[in-house]
Amino acid sequence: MTMNTLTVVGARPQFIKAAPVSRALQAAGINEFLVHTGQHYDANMSQIFFDELGIPRPDVNLGVGSGSHGRQTGEMLIRLEEVMMAEKPDMVLVYGDTNSTIAAALAAIKLHIPVTHVEAGLRSFNREMPEEHNRVLTDHCADLLLCPTQTAVDNLRNEGVTRGVHLTGDVMYDAALMFAGRAGQRSDVLARLGLAPKSYLLSTIHRPHNTDFPERLAGILDAFGQLDAPVILPIHPRTRKKIAELGLNMTDLAARGVRIIDPVGYLDMLMLEQNARLILTDSGGIQKEAYFFQVPCITLRNDTEWWETLDAGWNVLVGWDPEKILHHARTLAPSGPQPPLFGDGRAAEKIADILLENGQSA
Ligand code: UD1
Ligand code: UDP
Repeated sequence: MTMNTLTVVGARPQFIKAAPVSRALQAAGINEFLVHTGQHYDANMSQIFFDELGIPRPDVNLGVGSGSHGRQTGEMLIRLEEVMMAEKPDMVLVYGDTNSTIAAALAAIKLHIPVTHVEAGLRSFNREMPEEHNRVLTDHCADLLLCPTQTAVDNLRNEGVTRGVHLTGDVMYDAALMFAGRAGQRSDVLARLGLAPKSYLLSTIHRPHNTDFPERLAGILDAFGQLDAPVILPIHPRTRKKIAELGLNMTDLAARGVRIIDPVGYLDMLMLEQNARLILTDSGGIQKEAYFFQVPCITLRNDTEWWETLDAGWNVLVGWDPEKILHHARTLAPSGPQPPLFGDGRAAEKIADILLENGQSA
């Protein structure tokens, strides 16, 4: 009998995670009904990933858009329930830790549809992060918890969750391996921006703890302006708005070496990452991509979900303190070997196998 999954995506990193997984589900003969919540909607936050990465076109886009946490999650819950009731899938598959993730997990569990959580078990242990609530609650709704790392498996065990837990490796590692070659062939981002390899630093900033405190955001940008190489900053729309509110002028920032550009597609991003001398970010996914490409990473947070990248010496947590940013940007030079933390690049295939096994035994 064919298995039918309803997969929910909504935010940029979820499109990237879905690329290898949708492909593996298709190869395994699992039917996938893809729902886009519409959490991200700008072309360069959404459509570009579908175009570049061969992700199936969503069967439905709920068009929920932006809003406060309660309103956004609530709208998604209402609309997802309607779709799930109409589609009657055998399972619902969710990724990561966004409001789209928790809304889908809640809608499914209330309808007694089994939930599969890809990227289960991650914890920053910071309950001020909206994502931390989403992770914990989604894991506690899930029937199948597919963990990218051993740390994630251990985190779940510490919360008493052991049933349905599998270590699969990280689907973002699969994606990076799958698309790095294509990025090299197709992306002209270095030429477009006039950048020589290893001559620049790359940054992204979008966490509320950095964007929503004007003095922190201004301090970070000021520190960037004091570094000895240009900082390329593909800007998340949330951060663009906050920089405008600060009254900072993009031309002045550019004159100080802080080059703000629109968000880029995944292929351009992979090229920018691989060729950066250093990455400074508050993103979850980009900390890992820095590790995959052996680029030192300064994390503009006081916590992470990817603790093992710190142990390996390739990532350091500096928060938003300008002095610390400057100190570590000038001194971080990891050289130690990198333990293989994120699997073997076949996490998506393992996920498809686990779904088939569990579907048969259900
Ligand atoms: C969301 C996720 C976060 C993830 C990030 C990936 C939650 C709670 N947060 O954060 O975990 O790391 O996505 O990028 O789910 N906006 C636009 N155009 C868009 C999308 C957003 O202008 O296409 C602006 C809107 O002003 C919006 C703001 O960005 O209010 C924030 O968007 P939202 O999806 O709420 O959160 P992110 O910061 O993107
Ligand atoms: N990314 C991208 N273009 C950009 C910024 C990020 O393709 O301009 C990719 C990045 O390579 C990674 C993912 O988006 O694969 C990370 O998403 P984001 O930082 O928005 O979210 P997080 O991982 O923090 O949840």
